[in-house]
Amino acid sequence: MTAHVAVLLGGWSAEREVSLLSGAAVAEALQKAGYRFTTIDAGRDVATTLYDLRPDVVFNALHGPFGEDGTMQGLLEVIGLPYTHSPVMASAIAMDKAMTKAVLAPQGIPFAESRVVHRDAVLAGGIMDMPFVLKPVNEGSSVGVRIVACEEDFATLCRQPWSYGIHVLVEKYIPGRELTVAVMDGRPLEVLELRPRQGFYDYDAKYTEGLTEHILPAPMDEEDYSLVREYAAHAHKALGCRGVTRADFRYDEKAAPGERIFMLEINTQPGMTPLSLVPESAAHDGMDFVELVRWITEDGLCRK
Ligand SMILES: Nc1ncnc2c1ncn2[C@@H]1O[C@H](COP(=O)(O)OP(=O)(O)O)[C@@H](O)[C@H]1O
Ligand SMILES: [Mg+2]
Repeated sequence: MTAHVAVLLGGWSAEREVSLLSGAAVAEALQKAGYRFTTIDAGRDVATTLYDLRPDVVFNALHGPFGEDGTMQGLLEVIGLPYTHSPVMASAIAMDKAMTKAVLAPQGIPFAESRVVHRDAVLAGGIMDMPFVLKPVNEGSSVGVRIVACEEDFATLCRQPWSYGIHVLVEKYIPGRELTVAVMDGRPLEVLELRPRQGFYDYDAKYTEGLTEHILPAPMDEEDYSLVREYAAHAHKALGCRGVTRADFRYDEKAAPGERIFMLEINTQPGMTPLSLVPESAAHDGMDFVELVRWITEDGLCRK
């Protein structure tokens, strides 16, 4: 009998809409691959729903808090259901950008200078020389990310509402290019470059077709290219990740060697929408979307 897969999607984080797209694409692929599956829009009652359903494996297509941060993974451990992607601790550390740095920087992975501060301290001014970036400690999809390059940006920031917690991450702005690397089972795929046609790689640039140019493999210095892949694979292993992850980087090619590459974060539940970057990297590696979904599902199933 084919395995019964429960696809968790939706949820109630700021990335709900993205997750609905990821989950729908995953469900379609599972159907094509011949699995039995049930989609579950994750609500507060998700534990009882899953307990009653008793699937063979849970395909977690949630993004953001409660889906990607170790809490859902913990719930699945308690119920005793095998699931896709990273385990509890890796998920929890990766969801928190400050914790990710705290664990990975001592291991030689370069990050931009940053501080976690109370939001009021930022609004008081002078927290860091401009340009800097302000972001939530634990969101994704560029939700809440603000680049402050001048006094006008700062004035705008002070006027804007903020609903991502009282503690914020203030980080030195890294000029240059945007890179990302998918890692499957510890193996880094090719480096993908994202060139937004205007502004930065924000929510719209990520999810609106045509707003960002994708270049794969990224044209860049060979040694830097290898380093970016090495950092992505190292981060995946050091945090104890499983299945597929995706690490994001800034690349300042004009800086001196050794000061060009900065990891921004590692995503333990990377997007699976038709425009998403892991499916694109996997396709370049010879694995189409259905195969990718099958691989992730089987990787979850073998933890039974
Ligand atoms: N320090 C930084 N310097 C320049 N750009 C940044 C910096 N931090 C974030 N960004 C921009 O914001 C985007 C989202 O930031 P990231 O840290 O990857 O958070 P998330 O993707 O989880 O929202 C990045 O892809 C990049 O375009
Ligand atoms: Mg990112």
